[in-house]
Amino acid sequence: MNYDLTRKLLFQLPPELAHTVAMRTLNRLGRFGLSSLLAPEFIDDPVEVMGLRFPNPVGLAAGLDKDGICIDGLGGLGFGFLEVGTVTPRPQNGNPKPRLFRLTEHEALINRLGFNNAGVDVLLRRLEQTSFTGLLGINIGKNRDTPVNAALGDYRYCMERVYDHASYITVNISSPNTPGLRDLQHSDALNQLLDGLKGVHEQLGGSRVPLVVKIAPDMSDEEAAGVARQLIDFEVDGVIVSNTTVSRDGVSGRRVQHVQEQGGLSGAPLRERALQVLRVVAAEAGERLAVIGTGGITRGQHAAEKVADGANLVQIYTGFIYHGPDLIADSVRAIKDLNRG
Ligand SMILES: Cc1cc2nc3c(=O)[nH]c(=O)nc-3n(C[C@H](O)[C@H](O)[C@H](O)COP(=O)(O)O)c2cc1C
Repeated sequence: MNYDLTRKLLFQLPPELAHTVAMRTLNRLGRFGLSSLLAPEFIDDPVEVMGLRFPNPVGLAAGLDKDGICIDGLGGLGFGFLEVGTVTPRPQNGNPKPRLFRLTEHEALINRLGFNNAGVDVLLRRLEQTSFTGLLGINIGKNRDTPVNAALGDYRYCMERVYDHASYITVNISSPNTPGLRDLQHSDALNQLLDGLKGVHEQLGGSRVPLVVKIAPDMSDEEAAGVARQLIDFEVDGVIVSNTTVSRDGVSGRRVQHVQEQGGLSGAPLRERALQVLRVVAAEAGERLAVIGTGGITRGQHAAEKVADGANLVQIYTGFIYHGPDLIADSVRAIKDLNRG
């Protein structure tokens, strides 16, 4: 199905309402197994990463379906895997609205949602109701009112709950919309967090359910290399590069609507920086750490670019809002061509 008309209609609505309407519709279609009608055919390109067999390397990035309300619908669109969350131990409302903005001419979004979610236990109940049989990552975070120095407790709570229900678990320490969260990426804090998390992870069964850490693009190359080395030292299974950026490079200096809004910028303007961090991390990672490339994929070739520069898998969010399911197929095809070529 051509996405242009759908996008035109959805973009008449404020972004968060458009999101709710789209998710509800997709959810209904998914319940009847009909969401695949919206997508071109599923393209196989199997790849083994972190001991899991992905039917293709193009996944849905976290945040689109935080509470897992639409897994069956999203599962029919051609993704090789889905990531739900971020979920926190307790439900929370997130920041006041409006908190999601389109920068249409840049194929970008700014969001400051602030982990609005129904809590990890509600997510788990929803998972029991889905018929999705594909690979599902669960992305976990901390509640806003949990002090950063007590964050380990929130991650532990979530990890214990989701371990038996996830294909892999992502520890999100990189959202810009939870004050102090990104401080957990700093060397000493990261050491402490990883030490605690690895202990819990091992007790639960270790890499049977791979542990993945999601990082921000807003650090120097040296810092990114340092984070990668720490993840390798702690035998973390994978890293997602990257979350949204607080930088406005590529959109500032022009009269772009919403550019002044606070929050994380995603989509096309993030691509260059996310790719550079990915290169740095992949150079450290070698075969020891799986690399999942996210940020600014708005064409199939951008997905292939990430794989060419060291990603084992890729994920899409903002590009999917702007281009719909065709972008998934285009991305798989471009990666397939790259690997053939
Ligand atoms: C509206 C919105 C909400 C997001 N929420 C989350 C989230 O809850 N957890 C997370 O790890 N990343 C979240 N992200 C970040 C995306 O997963 C992704 O890392 C980032 O947007 C870069 O990819 P993109 O340019 O394809 O969007 C969110 C992004 C957007 C646009």
